[in-house]
Amino acid sequence: MKRIKTGIYGLDDLMEGGFPEGRSILLSGACGTGKTIFCMQYIYSGAKDYGEPGVYVTLDERPDLIREDVMRFGWDLKKLEETNKIQIIDGSIAKIGMPSQEEYALPVTGYDVDKLLLEMMRVIKRIGAKRVVIDSIPALGFNFENSNEVRKAILKLSYVLMRSGATSLMTSEIQEGTNRFGKYGVEEYVVDGVIVLHYMGIGTQSNRTLHIRKMRSTKHSEDLHPMQITQKGIKVTRIEEEYAET
Ligand SMILES: Nc1ncnc2c1ncn2[C@@H]1O[C@H](COP(=O)(O)OP(=O)(O)O)[C@@H](O)[C@H]1O
Ligand SMILES: [Mg+2]
Repeated sequence: MKRIKTGIYGLDDLMEGGFPEGRSILLSGACGTGKTIFCMQYIYSGAKDYGEPGVYVTLDERPDLIREDVMRFGWDLKKLEETNKIQIIDGSIAKIGMPSQEEYALPVTGYDVDKLLLEMMRVIKRIGAKRVVIDSIPALGFNFENSNEVRKAILKLSYVLMRSGATSLMTSEIQEGTNRFGKYGVEEYVVDGVIVLHYMGIGTQSNRTLHIRKMRSTKHSEDLHPMQITQKGIKVTRIEEEYAET
């Protein structure tokens, strides 16, 4: 089975070389745990280092803010967007009902998940995307009145992602105090892998961790791994290395 390099320093070694090609992975964690940075690192490194074009569907944050934020890590998205190595689809307007300046965006009038999926398929095909990110599922959910509709939308979305052949990441929130990694109770069942990010807001060092909870057809680490957000992006280590460093 071909492996897709995650671009996250230290992560591929924990799961036989990367994500299984063509599968979907859920990235779950509370807000501020680094999900958006993780997803952008996956898309950016794919485009830049592995010749794998990527589509980023942002439902949470505005594309211009994401571009600005990741410049901090030296990731210049604009250049890669101009050469069709990366495309960002702006679904964030759906939440606030304002027109978007983006080339790829949803119409302002009424939210329609089918339109989003069509737009996504169109862009995936046009640039030959091998990587897709949906950030985030809860933001998609805001547009629905009841969770049954959200579940249906998530199922449709995962079907479209599967058919596209791309290796995809979806982000969601952990339900604190429960054993659920998604908000709607279906996310974890439609994916082939679950990666959980934790952040404990105490202490000064190494209070972020990453845990591979599930990865189908892969032997993977079952440990909690220290995770850092460095100047170059997200880095994951093994506990042993952590001790060796200090
Ligand atoms: N340049 C940076 N250097 C170190 N940490 C950063 C940097 N930029 C953001 N962070 C950390 O990452 C967090 C935001 O990550 P983000 O991916 O947006 O989280 P999520 O999408 O899970 O809500 C910030 O709260 C901050 O702690
Ligand atoms: Mg985010």
